[in-house]
This record gives sequence, C-alpha cells and structure tokens, in this order.
Amino acid sequence: KGSVEVELGSIPLGESATIKWRGKPVFIRHRTPDEITLAAKDDQAELRDPQLDSERSVKPEWLVLLGVCTHLGCVPIANAGDYHGWFCPCHGSHYDVSGRIRKGPAPLNLEVPTYSFIEDDTKLLLG
Ligand code: FES
Repeated sequence: KGSVEVELGSIPLGESATIKWRGKPVFIRHRTPDEITLAAKDDQAELRDPQLDSERSVKPEWLVLLGVCTHLGCVPIANAGDYHGWFCPCHGSHYDVSGRIRKGPAPLNLEVPTYSFIEDDTKLLLG
C-alpha cells in the first residue's frame, strides 16, 4: 500500500515529526503562529524558486515536506539554518519555514508531497 496515515495529535505545536513514506523521509511540522507569520512575510523575499507559502500548505499550521535536499539528496535538519526552517549539513543549504531554498547550492524548494486531512482533521493521509 502506498498511503500512510499520521496521527496529528502526536505532534506538539512548534515541533516536527519525520516519518517514512515510500522509502523517503517526510517532515510534518506543526507551525506556530509566529512561524506562519514569518513564512507569509518571506513570500516577499528574493526567492530562488518562487512560491507562496499558501501554495505550499493546505492548512498553514501544518507544513508537509519530502525530507530530501534538492541538491544531492541528503536529509536536512529541522529547526536549523539561517531562516528558521531546515539546514542541510552536506553542503550547506538553508531552507525557510516554508521549506523554500534560501541559501546554499540546492536549486529548488523542498518538495511538497500529495496529502490530505482526514477524520475531522485529526489525521493526515500521505499519498
Ligand atoms: Fe543538501 Fe548538498 S545535499 S546541500
């Protein structure tokens, strides 16, 4: 089966979980109001791979990303780097709170997989 259900109640506000899906890590971040505000503000920043935060999250409080650096595929570290998002230690790519590439060699934003909310938004269905 290609789909995975994730219990959202197990991810506290301000934290992110990493789950395995189709052999790859997926990051699910429960964003705080401050992080949501910052992500929307960064819509105005100079972006290498321009995308609005609203295009990258179905619900602003949940950000879901493939945990695969778009440079050469390392797994970025959460809550690290210069933009309050993720940092890839392999060659120093910095991603923001929307998973958008901001600095370093990676060419593209962290990819958003296909997902939906189910069971009164208590669960996320990946795939
Ligand atoms: Fe992430 Fe190179 S693989 S910066």
